Amino acid sequence: MSHKMAKSAVSGIPTFGEVAAEDDAILEYFVQTDSVSTVVDGNKFLILGRKGSGKTALFRYFNEKQPQGSLSLALNLRGYPWAMHAKRGDPDAATAEQYEASWKYVIVTEFAQMVLSKVTGTSEWTSEVKSLRAFFQKNYGGTNVTLEDILRPSSLELSKTSFEPTILGCKLLSVSLERTGSQSGLSRELNALSDAIYEAASYVSQREQLDKILIHFDELDQGMVDFNEQRQLMLIGLILACRSINQQSIKSAVNVKSIVYLRTDMWERLSFSDKNKITMTNLAEIKWNEQSLKSLLDLRINKYIPGASWIDICDDDLMRGRQPKLTHIIARTFDRPRDVISFMNTLLEVSTPRRSAAGESQQFTNKDVVAARPDYSNYLKAELDDEIKPHWPSWDEALQVISGLGKLSFTKASFEAAYNITRLAKNFSSEEAMEILYDFSVIGTYSVQSGYGGSEWVFRYKVRKAKWDENASTFKLHLGLKEHARVNE
Ligand SMILES: Nc1ncnc2c1ncn2[C@@H]1O[C@H](COP(=O)(O)OP(=O)(O)OP(=O)(O)O)[C@@H](O)[C@H]1O
Ligand SMILES: [Mg+2]
Repeated sequence: MSHKMAKSAVSGIPTFGEVAAEDDAILEYFVQTDSVSTVVDGNKFLILGRKGSGKTALFRYFNEKQPQGSLSLALNLRGYPWAMHAKRGDPDAATAEQYEASWKYVIVTEFAQMVLSKVTGTSEWTSEVKSLRAFFQKNYGGTNVTLEDILRPSSLELSKTSFEPTILGCKLLSVSLERTGSQSGLSRELNALSDAIYEAASYVSQREQLDKILIHFDELDQGMVDFNEQRQLMLIGLILACRSINQQSIKSAVNVKSIVYLRTDMWERLSFSDKNKITMTNLAEIKWNEQSLKSLLDLRINKYIPGASWIDICDDDLMRGRQPKLTHIIARTFDRPRDVISFMNTLLEVSTPRRSAAGESQQFTNKDVVAARPDYSNYLKAELDDEIKPHWPSWDEALQVISGLGKLSFTKASFEAAYNITRLAKNFSSEEAMEILYDFSVIGTYSVQSGYGGSEWVFRYKVRKAKWDENASTFKLHLGLKEHARVNE
């Protein structure tokens, strides 16, 4: 039965929420997308998303909600001592694998500590629990080691009461974490220890019939000035370590999975030999569409006006081109929650004076939506700065080149002519510059869609597989940047 609700006054909504999940009351209006089950089940552990797509929201959901059937450990790498970890690489390992062993050790010690915190009754007296406790006591003074301190010791002491892994028949008495010039086999020794810890923790988790333990890593991009090679190697190491632990766990039916949340642009920059394999089998992208973004909004509206949804807080007038307001707004985003929330908060703000005047509509009007666009456009540009600057610090000068052309759509030739007389041409060719802009969906191309026989604007955030087409000749700036760039339709 359909029931038409009366329109609700926008003034009932103080805010659509904070734009970063760390500050947002996310659990009050979390949207359960497909990503949630992807994180828990199956072999996809690399969760990719652009800035503002909802990586931290997922991370917080698991950590704070602790949904039934799993136990989550959320490891936030903001403030992580990357420089210290850099010294824990293995100079003898193949380049891409230099940090795999150290990350693997981090994961198994986190796993073991989680298991120890759940031990009850008779497991306490198993040799596995005793060994784990002795190991942590000896090396860290207890089982509450923070992530920052796991790799801090210069060496790990082993003994009969903890673990004595052997390599080629020799018992290891200690494992050095510090790389010293002449030493070799660092990864091998550390891996032998990690395996022993993993075995013991697995045994206890099975004995205690613990729920699946999920170890989440977020904020890998924090505190990063530029995405240098060492940082890239450490990221690759973490990804390889997660894959290795997850594979081992699936094989031996151990309930533990490690998950990495990563910005799409950073993943695209990495290069290592197993990248394609991982892309095919272990990668999942956070995806949103108009419908799921609408439910995200409706849940937020509901928090303040129970039972109300988006259509109740705006008038029914269609925008130019017979476009509903929400479609018009979402077309100015990259289909990311942060963009939508940001647009809505701007809309609230710019419409306040009008709504406060006597006799005015208490819903959002088309004029309000148009009035919100300039401030929103500046937000979108700033968000793109955060994404693109680590790759190309002066990308916005290329945006200025487009501003100079004056129009939302333009030809490759006109861009090239204007670009080539700027200082930017010294670093990137015009073609390379356009490709970067295209990769971040700052611009889209007009192209023939195979199979449809028609032509349309293609933006990468919509058609993920659409690779750069060097033969494309007509381009369009993303609508969300129109006001910032001061171009006309
Ligand atoms: N599933 C969801 N349900 C409700 N709100 C969400 C959801 N996903 C994201 N959001 C909201 O969208 C905004 C951006 O999300 P979030 O901060 O998680 O993005 P992110 O991918 O971590 O971005 P960054 O790369 O900048 O860290 C936040 O306000 C967050 O609360
Ligand atoms: Mg985040």
